[in-house]
Amino acid sequence: MTQTNTPIDACAGIIKSKISGEVPKYALVLGSGLGELAEQIEVETEISYDDLPGFPIPTVEGHHGSMLIGTLMGTPIICLQGRAHLYEGHSVEKIITPIRTLKTVGVENLILTNAAGSLDAENGSGSLVLINDQINFSGINPLVGPNDERFGPRFSDMSFAYDPDLRKAISEVAKAEGIKLPEGVYIMVKGPSFETPAEIRAFRTLGANVVGMSTVPECIIANHAGMKVLGISSVTNLAAGMSGNALSHAETLEEGKNAAKNLSKLLKSYFAKISS
Ligand code: HPA
Repeated sequence: MTQTNTPIDACAGIIKSKISGEVPKYALVLGSGLGELAEQIEVETEISYDDLPGFPIPTVEGHHGSMLIGTLMGTPIICLQGRAHLYEGHSVEKIITPIRTLKTVGVENLILTNAAGSLDAENGSGSLVLINDQINFSGINPLVGPNDERFGPRFSDMSFAYDPDLRKAISEVAKAEGIKLPEGVYIMVKGPSFETPAEIRAFRTLGANVVGMSTVPECIIANHAGMKVLGISSVTNLAAGMSGNALSHAETLEEGKNAAKNLSKLLKSYFAKISS
């Protein structure tokens, strides 16, 4: 089924009208507590999600609702400061719209970042984990419903959900910078309650290394649309039952700040490399 005149076309039109130079091929979605990464961007234009029809207005502390257009170490980039989560009660449409809008604007590479709990004791809070695959435990698939052929096929491949070339490139940068970047599988739960220790044990058996409440639907939509995805989790806590402590969003935000510093350094070096 072909759909036209969606909010996606309107949003893409608004964004394109504000880009004076080269259309960015990279977009970056910032996860909880990773907002400071945006400070690294030389911003040319900021667009509030309020002005982009169909974009989600975030309701969670640690998430802004604005799009930054500019450059990062000389590379044109679009940065989404804030995303919709299913646990906020947002419809799947609110997750789809920003990603398909980026595709329509001309973005080819999508960097998804998130705050996550780690299932591996050796990757404690402050660590970064390069996502090499995902497990959709959210209970939803954002492609359910009529397929929009403009973006991709009815049945889309997820064999290389997190692009091997992008992973190799960022791993090389991490190595050169002395930043630890282990790879791992991200499992998404819908939330908003954190997991039980029994769930975490089950997820470990399933092969998960990090757990969070975002990223998976965005990755599915991006793959469907033929975009390359790079995913990085910043570990804010050891998953439930691993540390003996209760989990809290405040801790997530606080610990996220440490990982955000490493993530800033990593992405700055990556973009410096590709623009040279
Ligand atoms: N579980 C789910 N989502 C999260 C966690 C967690 O432990 N930490 C940060 N986001």
